[in-house]
Amino acid sequence: MEQKRENWGSRIGFIMAAAGSAVGLGNIWRFPYLTGMNGGGAFIVIYLGCVVLVGLSIMIAEFAVGRRTQLAAVGAYKTYNKKWSFAGVLGVLSGFFIMGFYPVVGGWSLYYIVKSFTGLLTVPEAIGDIFGAFIGSPVQPIIWMLIYLAVNVFIVARGVSAGIELAGKILMPILYVLLLIVTIKGLTIPGAGAGLSYLFVPDWSVVTGGTFLAALGQAFFSLSLGMGCMITYGSYLNKEEKLPNNTLIVVSMDTSVALLAGVAMFPALFAFGMEPAAGPGLVFVVVPQIFAQMGGIGPLFSAFFFVALFIAALTSSVSLLEVCVAYLMDEKKMDRRVATYGTSVVMAVLCALSSLSLGAMSGVTIFGVGAFDFFDILTDKIFLAIGGMLLAIFVGWFLKKEDLKDELTNGGTLSFGLFEVWYNIIKYVIPVLIGIVATVGILSIEQTSLMIFGILIIVVLAIFSKKL
Ligand code: TRP
Repeated sequence: MEQKRENWGSRIGFIMAAAGSAVGLGNIWRFPYLTGMNGGGAFIVIYLGCVVLVGLSIMIAEFAVGRRTQLAAVGAYKTYNKKWSFAGVLGVLSGFFIMGFYPVVGGWSLYYIVKSFTGLLTVPEAIGDIFGAFIGSPVQPIIWMLIYLAVNVFIVARGVSAGIELAGKILMPILYVLLLIVTIKGLTIPGAGAGLSYLFVPDWSVVTGGTFLAALGQAFFSLSLGMGCMITYGSYLNKEEKLPNNTLIVVSMDTSVALLAGVAMFPALFAFGMEPAAGPGLVFVVVPQIFAQMGGIGPLFSAFFFVALFIAALTSSVSLLEVCVAYLMDEKKMDRRVATYGTSVVMAVLCALSSLSLGAMSGVTIFGVGAFDFFDILTDKIFLAIGGMLLAIFVGWFLKKEDLKDELTNGGTLSFGLFEVWYNIIKYVIPVLIGIVATVGILSIEQTSLMIFGILIIVVLAIFSKKL
């Protein structure tokens, strides 16, 4: 007997789950360091442009395709056209690969919660060494990663509404409160103004082609787009919900958390005279130094911050795991639990390799990089943007315009005044824009063999699409 498809229990539950997917390491870990590495305000303006022009439209498209077909990414594509299965499989593969390093960083956040109270902050100068020694050690980070992954498994195995939705509803408000507390604290430090003007007064002289690339990639990553994640979440949505409105809420929540994270960090950073361009270590090395300078309450704020980071990461990796699980359930008729346990065991192995690539196994490389960077570069620089472009082409050129209009207006019962604008952006603007940015971006990857490998995967998937 065909089982009834799982559904979100409530509107707010869906919004919290989708926002939970979007708000993640991308907002709190990546966005601030990218902003710092790309010169501040100008990057933020370009990023916001990408979010409004590209992100919003693609998210609406993903929700529409998912809800229309009531199937996760692969099935959704397949329903319309078997040749397009590869675009869905590419998405599942992206999710799988992102899960090859994301839980490693999630594990770091767990370790930092505990370490906040047990000596992380006592010698500010030593924080960099503590971080380096920790992520490079062979056993500890893997144990924290496994604990982190186990929490994901627990949530996803419980299902859509009793697991993912419930976690989002409980955790997302906590995340906001914690982040607000840390932000307000940061703003009250004397000398915070310099950080704010760094963030919000653009200096256009630092903008290069690379700035646009970084901003577009970040918009995809942060909004969970380009791999069918929002297709999957849309497939659990009932027909009464208004897609454009809900999209606007989710995108606003994601953007506000990114900006909050920036405002939580940069004023304090500047007030204490530290380097904004610290790179990926920003959150784990520079930010704790800020808390160290606060004295007695430092550990508490530090713990607040890393709990927020953990929550943000958790609700995102849950969505990545769900994409893989939903694929196995829809296409391979697997049981949810079996799919969850099976996938996560493989992910644990990939993550262990990623973690080891930062220390014990740093000599072992594939295509010139360690496992951690391999998964990161492959997804961020190649798969997500191409996945987004394929979706836009598919929706704009292969789906019937009337069907899309029907889906976005709930069968004509509500108005979506910007339908024509949205449709033309999807059909013409996004394929061209991503086509240019992705080509330049992919060609700029230093590891040529990795670049070729990534493209080869896409080509092979496309050739065997009908068998997928
Ligand atoms: N958006 C999440 C973050 O910012 C990561 C993420 C979750 C993601 N699901 C995704 C990225 C799907 C790309 C595609 O951390």
